[in-house]
Amino acid sequence: MPKKSKTPTVRNAFYAQSGGVTAVINASAAGVIDACRKHRKHIGTLYAGRHGIVGALTEDLIDTSQESTASIKALRHTPSGAFGSARYKLKSIEQDRAKYERLIEVFRAHNIGYFFYNGGNDSMDTAHKVSAISTELNYPIICVGVPKTVDNDLPITDCCPGFGSVAKYVAVSTQEAALDVASMARTSTKVFILEVMGRHAGWIAAAAGLAGGTREQAPHIILFPEITFNRAKFVARVKACVAKQGFCVIVVSEGVKGPNGKFLAEGTTVDAFGHAQLGGAAPEIARIVKDDLGYKHHWAVADYLQRAARHIASKTDVDQAYAVGQAAVEFAIQGKNAVLPVIVRQSDKPYRWTIAPAPLSAVANVEKKVPRRFVTADGFGITAACRRYLSPLIAGEDYPPFKEGLPVYVKLKNKAVKRKLKTRFKV
Ligand code: F6P
Repeated sequence: MPKKSKTPTVRNAFYAQSGGVTAVINASAAGVIDACRKHRKHIGTLYAGRHGIVGALTEDLIDTSQESTASIKALRHTPSGAFGSARYKLKSIEQDRAKYERLIEVFRAHNIGYFFYNGGNDSMDTAHKVSAISTELNYPIICVGVPKTVDNDLPITDCCPGFGSVAKYVAVSTQEAALDVASMARTSTKVFILEVMGRHAGWIAAAAGLAGGTREQAPHIILFPEITFNRAKFVARVKACVAKQGFCVIVVSEGVKGPNGKFLAEGTTVDAFGHAQLGGAAPEIARIVKDDLGYKHHWAVADYLQRAARHIASKTDVDQAYAVGQAAVEFAIQGKNAVLPVIVRQSDKPYRWTIAPAPLSAVANVEKKVPRRFVTADGFGITAACRRYLSPLIAGEDYPPFKEGLPVYVKLKNKAVKRKLKTRFKV
């Protein structure tokens, strides 16, 4: 029977970034840090995990109190994961008991009573399990998720911080590349293909549709993971588009699947979550265009450019990312455990939103896909309802400061906390 611990009233907190990073995950970190600093009566020091949860397992903690107010302010406009993120999946408590117990051991050693986990579906599942094991081991911890994923596939929340900025980058890039190909099409390139992220959900691909309001405007074809790829139908549409418009702009999600149920872009690498590493749908589509139609074409994979593009971040997204970070701390202080702050849409135009708590259990491992009513009947475009949903998420600009032509991003000190445990843990 584990011994019952007497918990001090002021307890420290632990924050970790998880999964693929975004242009605004650091804005959430800034929200968490600012709110913790405001609540010194309840929260002592906020530690961050170096490389996310891996930092907790290996007792490699970062003391965020060493960072100046100016650095935390600059964190809000700095892309990527300032403390390092991790793709590191903890399985069920039965399968990975030693890891969960190690987490509690580290938390106990550093008097950590609050756990803020900034990630997507898998990470919300981990936060939920940490909350369960903390009860089981009589070491109470308040676990609060902080939503983040460019894929926009968390349920309940109106959108996921990180998505709005990718959506804006993809819509802007599609608009600009379309102008380029339109200028060249008479004598040169007729087809441009842009591949965007979104493993199972086509939200990012859908966002490209914001670049054009009508079927005549680019992007002329969007390929969603939710719609099975049909080669003959696709080729016919490209041909008709080039015949009518003179050129064709295609946006393809990395998650598009063929009739055999396999990704067009499936590689051989699998990450720690067991997800196939994707990338390669655009060259596959380009090959089809060349083989079946012979048009001159260009293709591009937006890859990390899209999720790191802080220079053209959506102001709405930055505001929401910061707000969910702050709200996570407020909820924790109110004693709300095993929850995450979600964004609740109050109105489309003007876009009004509030934040409310939702249970981690309702979000963990659930993927929200693009609903069929957001895709046009032919499967190649977005509907007015989809546009209404997406438009406010890319609204507004929040430029970082620039110096000599480049954005000025902060590099934190990331000072390590002295280890307290003798035991080392290998991950
Ligand atoms: O976090 C989601 C995501 O952005 C996916 O859309 C994409 O497939 C994946 O991350 C790529 O991540 P990684 O950097 O781990 O290869």
